[in-house]
Amino acid sequence: MIAQLDKLYADFTAKLSTLSTQSDVLNLKSEYMGKKGPLTEVLKGLKDATPDERQKIGPKANEIKQNIGSDIQAKLDGLEVAEINAKLALDPIDTTITDNVLVNDPKHGGLHPITAIQQEVEDIFLSMGFDILDGPHVEDEFHNFEALNIPADHPARDMQDTFWFHGPEVESGKKALLRTHTSTIQIRGMMSRKPPFKFIAPGKVFRCERTDASHEMVFHQLEGMMVGKDVSVANLIYFMKTLLREIFKTDVEVRLRPGFFPFVEPGFELDIRCLICKGEGCSVCKQTGWVELLPCGMVHPNVLRAGGINSDEYNGFAFGLGLDRLVMMRYGIDDIRHIHGADLRFMRQFGAY
Ligand code: PHE
Repeated sequence: MIAQLDKLYADFTAKLSTLSTQSDVLNLKSEYMGKKGPLTEVLKGLKDATPDERQKIGPKANEIKQNIGSDIQAKLDGLEVAEINAKLALDPIDTTITDNVLVNDPKHGGLHPITAIQQEVEDIFLSMGFDILDGPHVEDEFHNFEALNIPADHPARDMQDTFWFHGPEVESGKKALLRTHTSTIQIRGMMSRKPPFKFIAPGKVFRCERTDASHEMVFHQLEGMMVGKDVSVANLIYFMKTLLREIFKTDVEVRLRPGFFPFVEPGFELDIRCLICKGEGCSVCKQTGWVELLPCGMVHPNVLRAGGINSDEYNGFAFGLGLDRLVMMRYGIDDIRHIHGADLRFMRQFGAY
């Protein structure tokens, strides 16, 4: 039987050496290693062997089985390398060629200036410990108005012309609308965390307005909110000045004017010294030397309460940065409609193809 086993292995090696594809090798493998294979056949003779012979046959059979396994693996590995080499020889890619359209005329994408500035502002606030939140475009009148201290019939609803949905009404039976500002996320943010906290929330907002050089129906805001104990207007000014210095890479002079928004008290309009004329007066600042950039204020106690926060213990500030205005100031763009105009000549100035 030992001789039979040796012959079996010799036959196998001879067959294996003639094979040249992986599938043939795999077939041979199942032929030899399978339950009905020649090895099993030979081992059937074990019952007629002497005890002495049996002792030798066991280890021998094991050895042959292992050899067959490793021979097959080695053959498969060799064939794989050969196949790869053959493919490379047939289909060469010369990575050193430079005279190629992909190299000479690269068509690459680029970030839209709004996205780019949004990411910059996000990085600045992240470095100051703010979280970044998101909220839905389709909102309800609770988050967009009521919780922000603007009840139904309040004249302030007219400040923001709203796109309303005609049913179906969203959760809680409130009317659905396209959010007119990112202040909706003040409410969502307050409801989902415990003070102290600070976060920003960038996003698109929608107003049912006639468009002109400074008005669009879809534009971008970046809401900010900080709630804690003894938050002050000085904190608000500090964060705003830091932001503006980082964005414009220079110290920016700011001033606060009273501004009315039902969800802040006191409310302000934060103006910056015009960076285009350095305050001398130009068309961008309408000869005043100041540009209105950022409405803000101390969060109204009603709003804190609507967000589930104890207004006796905590207070905070909020602001609504207009990202489109920021892009326009930075690049000297005089018409907001360019921003969503999808005109490639405009886009290419910012690196998009
Ligand atoms: N949500 C206001 C608007 O869109 C801006 C704002 C935000 C004002 C936060 C004050 C505080 O007009």
